[in-house]
Amino acid sequence: MILTEIDHVAIAVKDLNAAVAYYAEAFGAEVHHREIVDSDGVEEALIKVGESYIQLTAATRADSPIAKSIEKRGEGLHHIGYRVDDCAAALAAMVAAGATAIDKEPRPGSRGTTVAFIHPKGSLGTLIELVEE
Ligand code: CO
Repeated sequence: MILTEIDHVAIAVKDLNAAVAYYAEAFGAEVHHREIVDSDGVEEALIKVGESYIQLTAATRADSPIAKSIEKRGEGLHHIGYRVDDCAAALAAMVAAGATAIDKEPRPGSRGTTVAFIHPKGSLGTLIELVEE
């Protein structure tokens, strides 16, 4: 088993401040980490749940994948981040098993992580992010 933990569940939202306020009101949640990831055109707020995170993610520009997703499907579940010890090895194993890589090589993610995305086609309709801390 190459997955060590659920790293995060990402939820696409239109308004990050409103989403953070909703999680505070509904769950008493506090933001653990907030970051703009310029390369992806997103701003994310991480809420810690045990050793995992809920990642509220909003677009910072119109051509962001989150903007496109909200346009197509509205707000909601966007992807699952699976924690792995070795992102490159996990990516290679998934591709060998028939998955379609969006990122051909691991690349920098938020929080100083190394990440790679796998296309939902070939992965049971789930956009997967492999996350190495
Ligand atoms: Co993610």
